[in-house]
Amino acid sequence: MTVLTSAYRLTQYAHGGGCACKIPPGELEDIVRGLHGSTAPELIVGLDDGDDAAVVTIEGDTAVVVTADFFTPVVDDAYDWGRIAAANALSDVYAMGGRPVVAVNLVGWPRDVLPAELLREVLRGGLDIAGEAGCHVGGGHSIDDPEPKYGMAVTGVADARRLLRNDAARPGLPISLTKPLGVGVLNNRHKATGETFPEAVACMTALNRQASLDALASGAEAATDVTGFGLLGHLYKMARASGVTAIVDAAAVPYLDGARDALRDGFVSGGTRRNLDWVGPHLDATVDEDELLLLADAQTSGGLLVVGEVPGAPIVGEIVERREHSLSIR
Ligand code: CO
Ligand code: CO
Repeated sequence: MTVLTSAYRLTQYAHGGGCACKIPPGELEDIVRGLHGSTAPELIVGLDDGDDAAVVTIEGDTAVVVTADFFTPVVDDAYDWGRIAAANALSDVYAMGGRPVVAVNLVGWPRDVLPAELLREVLRGGLDIAGEAGCHVGGGHSIDDPEPKYGMAVTGVADARRLLRNDAARPGLPISLTKPLGVGVLNNRHKATGETFPEAVACMTALNRQASLDALASGAEAATDVTGFGLLGHLYKMARASGVTAIVDAAAVPYLDGARDALRDGFVSGGTRRNLDWVGPHLDATVDEDELLLLADAQTSGGLLVVGEVPGAPIVGEIVERREHSLSIR
């Protein structure tokens, strides 16, 4: 029997969407405060600076990069959701300058509520994106869950001498952004109204592979990907970890079509507001609150924020010596 998969609007089974369903950043930091991971020298990126993935050296300069990411449906279409979740999980390996090698699926599925055919579509989407990344997929783990959730745990490799770290942003360098912002407000509108945004889906399913290779080729040492904490949240984490101030030229930041309309029409997620509340004490700004909300928009499978130049990517600001605030928006 074939189930008409379009009869189900997957976003209606989620209490929150995408990376916007992350535990709020400040709250998470309170929870892990005082918990210390390994201090062994081979763990070259661990818990402390909140980087995108853990990195451990195994032999010489060969490093293993490990990350996991999963979330509730961000779009109604099962196949697209699978692709988005996979691209997002792979992204943390690219954000470290690594190459994904093998992934396993992480699945929560309401067996009594949603048909198995839909889950197959989700997994097919994940497989297709992993295939595009040249990353093997070997099984995974699934549980019966009142709310659908999907993602991947991804293991990659990197050259330990050529990582893209959170704590390596140096003054005097530009900041490049490799994907436009706005998927948060557009996904929120999609969830509320059912309107579709193909450009946003294309953006979320695009791998950060080339951006990562380009960043490494240009000599960059610092990068992170823009996900649930928004551009402002992730840039704040990077500036704080690096002991510098990041200046953002708001007018230079690219947005997807419809993002400003969605903001104006009120489709701002709670996660985005929490992002702005969190970074608020650490920024000075000459732009209005609407502009700040767009900059704090919780992204799903966003682009890389690279300290350095990336061919074809707009420069959205610069790193300067540490000032009073970690972030300065003009
Ligand atoms: Co990340
Ligand atoms: Co992540």
